[in-house]
Amino acid sequence: MVKYTNMEGEKEDIKALEIKAKKEISAAGDLKELDQIFRAYLGKKGHITRVLRSLASMGEAERKIRGKAANDARDALQAAFEAKKQQQTLQIEEAEKKDHVDVTAPGTKLPKGHLHPLTHIQRKCQEIFNGMGFAVAEGPEIETEWYNFDALNIPKDHPARDLWDTFWLKPKAADYLLRTHTSPVQARYMEKNNPPLRIIAPGRIFRYEATDASHEINFYQLEGLMIGKDVSVANFKAIIEEFYSQFFKKETTVRLRPSYFPFTEPSFEIDMRQGKGNWLEMMGAGMVHPNVLKNVGYIPREWKGFAFGMGLDRLAMMKYKIDDIRLLYSGDLKFLQQF
Ligand code: PHE
Repeated sequence: MVKYTNMEGEKEDIKALEIKAKKEISAAGDLKELDQIFRAYLGKKGHITRVLRSLASMGEAERKIRGKAANDARDALQAAFEAKKQQQTLQIEEAEKKDHVDVTAPGTKLPKGHLHPLTHIQRKCQEIFNGMGFAVAEGPEIETEWYNFDALNIPKDHPARDLWDTFWLKPKAADYLLRTHTSPVQARYMEKNNPPLRIIAPGRIFRYEATDASHEINFYQLEGLMIGKDVSVANFKAIIEEFYSQFFKKETTVRLRPSYFPFTEPSFEIDMRQGKGNWLEMMGAGMVHPNVLKNVGYIPREWKGFAFGMGLDRLAMMKYKIDDIRLLYSGDLKFLQQF
C-alpha cells in the first residue's frame, strides 16, 4: 500500500483518497459542489496536490512509487471531474430546453366544434331568401292534426293523407303528431299576420318510413310562401331560378311539371338543370289553394300567392356530393369533420 505523510504526520492511503473523491464526484448535485470537491482534492491546497508536493522531500525509491500512485490518482480524478462536468452541463442544457418558451411559436390549437353541414345549407338558403325580401318563420315540430292536415285542405279519411306517413303521438285522441312537412307553418303564420307577406320556414320534419340511402325518418325542409294581390306563377319561377343560381353559383333553369298537392292549385313538381345538364326533381310547389286561404281567415278573391317545399338534405347531398342521407344523422365525426 502506498502511503504518504500528511501535515499531521500521518500516513494516508492514496488509493483510498481516490476512491473517496470519486464517490463525492459522482454524488455532486451541481457544478458548484463539483467545483468545491475539485478544489478539495486537486486545488492548490487539495489532498492530492499536497501529496504531489510532498514528493520532493522523499527519498528516490519512495518518490518513485508514491509519485506514480499520486499521478495516477490525479489523472483518474481529473478524468472523473471532466466526465461529471460534461454530464451536468448536458443536464442543465436539457432542463433549459424543456423550460424554454418560444414566444414566436404558434399556440397549440384547442379542438373546436363546427356547424353541421345541414346548418350551413339552411343558413345559406336563409341568406339568399332574405336578400329577396323573405322573412324567416318557425313552427313546432310537435304539431296538431289541424295544422298538419285539416287547415291545409287535407280532410280526415281523405286518401291524400296517405301521402304523408305519420308518427302519431299517444294518446291518439289528443291529435298530436310529429309534423310531416313544414307546410303547417304557412297556416300558423297567415293566421297571425296580414298579407302581403313573404316568408320561408326551415325546419325538421318526420316521416314514418323505412330508411335507406335516400330516405330518413326525419329530415329538413324549407317551406316558402309569398302572398300578395297579384303574385303569379311567373314570380315563383323567377324567384326559384334566382335562388338556385345563387345557391349553386351557376346559372340555373327550372321547369314546372303538373302535380298534385291538396293545399295548392295548380300544383307543380319543380325540376332544375344547369346548362344542358339532366333535369333533377327538386321540390313540390303551387299556387296556394283558396280553401287554405279561407281556413286562415284571408279572402281568396283578394289574395293569392305561391308556396313551395324543398328538401334541405337533398340540397346538402348535391352540394357536398353525399350519397347517403343517413350520414347526415349518424353523428359520425369522421364524416362531420370534413365540413
Ligand atoms: N309539403 C309538401 C311536401 O312535403 C311540399 C309542398 C309545399 C308542396 C308547398 C306544395 C307547396 O311534400
